[in-house]
Amino acid sequence: MSKEIIKIFDTTLRDGEQSPGASMNTEEKIQIAIQLEKLGVDIIEAGFAAASPGDFDAISKIAQRITKSTVCSLARAVEADIKAAGDAIAVAKMKRIHTFIATSAIHMEHKLKMKPEEVIKRAANAVAYARTFVEDVEFSCEDAGRSDIGFMKEICDAVIEAGATTINLPDTVGFRLPSEIGAMVREMSEYTKGRAIISVHNHNDLGLGVANSLEAVINGARQIECTINGLGERAGNAALEEIVMAIRTRQDIFNNIDTNIDTKEIYPSSRLIANITGIEPQPNKAIVGKNAFAHESGIHQDGMLKNRKTYEIISPEDIGLDLSDTLVLGKHSGRAAFKDKLAKLGFTLDDEALNSSFERFKVLADKKKDIYDDDLRALVTNEMTKATQIFELVSLQLMDCSSGVPSAAVSIRKDNQEMIDASIGGGTIDAIFKTIDRISGYEGKLMDYKVTSVSKGKDALANVTVKVEFNEDEPAIIGHGLHIDTMLASARAYISALNSYLSMQGMLKKRNPDSSKTV
Ligand code: KIV
Ligand code: ZN
Repeated sequence: MSKEIIKIFDTTLRDGEQSPGASMNTEEKIQIAIQLEKLGVDIIEAGFAAASPGDFDAISKIAQRITKSTVCSLARAVEADIKAAGDAIAVAKMKRIHTFIATSAIHMEHKLKMKPEEVIKRAANAVAYARTFVEDVEFSCEDAGRSDIGFMKEICDAVIEAGATTINLPDTVGFRLPSEIGAMVREMSEYTKGRAIISVHNHNDLGLGVANSLEAVINGARQIECTINGLGERAGNAALEEIVMAIRTRQDIFNNIDTNIDTKEIYPSSRLIANITGIEPQPNKAIVGKNAFAHESGIHQDGMLKNRKTYEIISPEDIGLDLSDTLVLGKHSGRAAFKDKLAKLGFTLDDEALNSSFERFKVLADKKKDIYDDDLRALVTNEMTKATQIFELVSLQLMDCSSGVPSAAVSIRKDNQEMIDASIGGGTIDAIFKTIDRISGYEGKLMDYKVTSVSKGKDALANVTVKVEFNEDEPAIIGHGLHIDTMLASARAYISALNSYLSMQGMLKKRNPDSSKTV
């Protein structure tokens, strides 16, 4: 008997991007969308087109590239948002507009300052307008978890009548327990039976996002909204990898149910997103955390040697994690071995990207004895997602950190012209960033700085993530730098933030949230 498919709606690029510090440049978003398509997600929520020209641009580029997943844009229930969403996804092979309005008493009274009847009218008009752009329209009752179920039935009748094909019931503030979500979903699925697909979108404020999503499936939800690594607003959203692996692993419970996800793409997806956002999953995070398959106790190790099933309910290979083959290449490895290894890791690069990645690999291999899968993933991701290189680091010289006057001399290339300058700073990083400011003419304010080691060893690659504000009216920009020398990685990260900023200029300004005309 063929199984019923639960649609996986991935919102890493929209709700996930709302995680503090997770904003991404257009190239990064495109690479993530390509990976999500490979992972097999049914719907990619590519962003919120009306939020800024940069969001619009990224969604429309994703719409051009993606052919197997539906590409979706979020839109408030206002005309300008829906038009922006419709225009941004216009070229997509399969497209959806996701419009929403709050339905809880607290949101309607204090945030929207609207009467329930007005909210229903606005929602129905929004859906009808969205249908003039696409056939596939999703409507969300924002804060459904705290909304009156009678009112939600009324609004659902109106939006289904107007053409909504999916009804999403978000637990926006992550307040509900599994039994409560289950009861809400059962009642709403029975009420809307056959008229629309019921979807859930659970936030993780009480750590229940995944449990609530699974309970929703048991009670009739046929679409789950989730993110890779559980990224998302505040405590995040339900994690895609946990939901999918729970359904696969517990087929005794979910016996007539499956998803279209290729689970072998879970680990590569998780690494890509961690490398791009600089947000590592906690080590003990289920499925994709660094310790998820590590057996520390002697008793466990003994059991594992006798039979892996004693302590392992999922094998690492099922999620695309190859623990046996992590030591990969060294300085004598040639282009063919390099290309072959990248293909095994799931990267298909065009000739230009392959050449520049290979050059970077050779430079790294000269300095680092063993190169692991995670090093290659980080290196190639960094290469594939960098914005146009307006400024390029040529060299960095550091002086006298010990005497209390740290100083840095930096040389940067722009338009084939090399510029050099030096300055002192409160610390070495301060001196480096100040010098880059002096040379470039842009003064950045450092909002966050993080360094992680990509793999093991004293000669590990440092992955530095910076968040820099170049203009206080615009969002801060994330930059990444990789090098085995942390100071060089820091300089690269700062310059990469500057390059992203410059390549997105004019596209960053957020639109005024209240300026849009209602429908
Ligand atoms: O959490 C939420 O309610 C949302 C909606 C916009 C779907 O993200
Ligand atoms: Zn949300």
